[in-house]
Amino acid sequence: MKGTDVLLGLQWGDEGKGKVVDVLTPSYDVIARFQGGPNAGHTLEFNDIKHVLHTIPSGIFRKNTMNLIGNGVVIDPVIFKKEIDSLKGFGIDVSRLLLISKKAHLILPTHRILDAASEQAKGKKKIGSTLKGIGPTYMDKTGRNGLRIGDLYTANFQDRYDALVEKHKSMLTRFDFEYDLDQYEKDWFDAIESLKEIPAVDSEHYINNAIKAGKKVLAEGAQGTMLDIDFGSYPFVTSSNTITAGTCTGLGIAPNRINDVIGIFKAYCTRVGSGPFPTELHDDTGEEMRQEGQEFGATTGRPRRCGWIDLPALKYAIMINGVTKLSMMKADVLSIFDTIKVCTHYTYQGETIDYLPYDIEDESLMPVYKEIPGWKGIDLTGLTDVAEIPANLNNYIEFLEHELETPITIVSVGPNRKQTIIRDKVLN
Ligand code: GDP
Ligand code: IMO
Ligand code: MG
Repeated sequence: MKGTDVLLGLQWGDEGKGKVVDVLTPSYDVIARFQGGPNAGHTLEFNDIKHVLHTIPSGIFRKNTMNLIGNGVVIDPVIFKKEIDSLKGFGIDVSRLLLISKKAHLILPTHRILDAASEQAKGKKKIGSTLKGIGPTYMDKTGRNGLRIGDLYTANFQDRYDALVEKHKSMLTRFDFEYDLDQYEKDWFDAIESLKEIPAVDSEHYINNAIKAGKKVLAEGAQGTMLDIDFGSYPFVTSSNTITAGTCTGLGIAPNRINDVIGIFKAYCTRVGSGPFPTELHDDTGEEMRQEGQEFGATTGRPRRCGWIDLPALKYAIMINGVTKLSMMKADVLSIFDTIKVCTHYTYQGETIDYLPYDIEDESLMPVYKEIPGWKGIDLTGLTDVAEIPANLNNYIEFLEHELETPITIVSVGPNRKQTIIRDKVLN
């Protein structure tokens, strides 16, 4: 009884997870987020409208699928309320289609302030956090001080809130950082009332009962493997486990209930925020990629750093996650180039290696590229069938499948739901 598939990012986030979840949702009964919080921005496009979701699973637009926010997620009621209000504006019956775990942790206004103060104090060494309070909230979770959704329904919630805020205020005295808590706190308590419209459930029971009843669950990851707290480019990472194992802890799903793991990657590579990025392009090619791919953050609007695909990093991500199927996104963006470069190895301290070393910040780490003929000038954005894939793109796909030892079952050629080529048939 393996009722769960997992879908997650293999790079530094923003691979296109939201789009693929939306495309796959009709095949699932439940879509469940297992980690992260409003640092995520998952974009979906259909009927000429673009939606960006932060905390709410990307299955919310399909009326026959339930959506669950798992215990591993951290929630900012203010951002959550905005999402709910926007969905209601599109006629979505959110209180029927969405459930929230009682064990999910709350992001307090002071968590956000602590995030900003801590980043400012780091100066040049800053993580490039989205400043949504993610780090401080997970710190309070593991420090056993956090407040959870279920606590909202207890009589002493206000006292516990006040005690935690006092603790945060005393921590803030150590920073040279000015803040104004009052307005934000007012909005936060107002938003709590909206949050209470969404049923709070014992999500581990809900999800396991669903699996037992033969329902199909898709666990939706946020961020990407290279931002994982354990296996990412530490310390330039987020504060949760973004990998397949995060599904087990973030939803209460046992490992032997997991079936397929769908790994999402861009046909090139991007990163937003600070930290090492071996294949980053600082030249015109990088700028062309950014413009053509519209690589600007869905949550913060920051320009994303761009570079060529990095196979050693992808192989690592496939290994850590146990990926069984791949989705390659944004192939259309590469139509502007004569040749496509693929990083197959690195040189590192005078040697050629095919794995990520411990210190990927080491300045001697340089990518080694193989050049592959591109499909310049061919517009892919209207393609929907494997038979229409141009020969050079097919060669690129097959080369990657060979190197990564994993089938690419979805090729995305545009942001819209419809701009998706399913390759399963080819592989059977
Ligand atoms: P996520 O965080 O992994 O869900 O990804 P984001 O939504 O942050 O970023 C992906 C961006 O690429 C969004 O703007 C999507 O609309 C867009 N996108 C997704 N797939 C494709 C594609 O195949 N081609 C193009 N051109 N854009 C895409
Ligand atoms: P989705 O789900 C891309 C990055 C931030 C920063 C680091 C830590 O849309 O792919 P945090 O706010 O978590 O403390 O930031 O992680 N980051 C993301 N980058 N996509 C995301 O989410 C991200 N969530 C966090 O830019 O470098
Ligand atoms: Mg994103």
